[in-house]
Amino acid sequence: MVRIKSAKDIEAMRPACHHAADTLVMIEPYIKAGITTDYINDLVHAFTTEAGGIPAPLNYHGFPKSVCTSVNHVVCHGIPNSKKIQAGDIINVDVTTIINGWHGDTSMTFYVGEPKVQARKVTEIARRALEIGISIVRPGATLGDIGHAIQSYVEGEKCSVVREYCGHGIGTTFHEDPQILHYGKPGEGLTLKQGMVFTIEPMVNFGKAGVKVLSDGWTVVTRDRSLSAQFEHTMVVTEDGCEVLTIPSS
Ligand code: MF3
Ligand code: CO
Ligand code: CO
Repeated sequence: MVRIKSAKDIEAMRPACHHAADTLVMIEPYIKAGITTDYINDLVHAFTTEAGGIPAPLNYHGFPKSVCTSVNHVVCHGIPNSKKIQAGDIINVDVTTIINGWHGDTSMTFYVGEPKVQARKVTEIARRALEIGISIVRPGATLGDIGHAIQSYVEGEKCSVVREYCGHGIGTTFHEDPQILHYGKPGEGLTLKQGMVFTIEPMVNFGKAGVKVLSDGWTVVTRDRSLSAQFEHTMVVTEDGCEVLTIPSS
């Protein structure tokens, strides 16, 4: 069941969405060789709680930390740890903030120092894949239209789209209907309506699409150990298009 959000609901979601975006702005200057992902976790946790928010990942289905940090061939759901990031790494930081019971969910992939050719390519394709997905969103478009636009772009660039994880409806719950697949066929699937709120968050692999989950039960990696990048926004379907909600507050 897809919950349609009222104008009042959208206003209520804005603080959480702005805060999640502000968190990525806050984090960016700390992304340097030699820091640990635990340090990123501590920064995100403090920034969120000091604003009166709750970091949604913490204890979500048992997730042990306040943010997901996914380095290089980690696709998503990387658990912050004491390992240092290194020059040439790419790292996705995925922030979900709860404020007044409403969720905002956004992520970006950052370069640690100067990226090598493959790292830059997969990251820029993931960035563009999200933009392309967003450009399709309007009343009357279908979920298949979004998935197809993303898939055909990414595969045209000789990269691949992860199938096992997808975007999602969001609001007073972290993950709700509908599922937003990043692949599909034009015209298929649910038709978008004004007031639907969801994320688009394509995971793009430099190599093959296959993934596996490590024995910690969370960390998703590429089967071929190729690099993977991801960007995510939360958005609302408007009268004639969409509005991205996870933008910084200033
Ligand atoms: N933020 C992720 C998403 O985009 C979900 C993370 S779930 C967690 O949907 F438990 F790993 F935090
Ligand atoms: Co999400
Ligand atoms: Co997220």
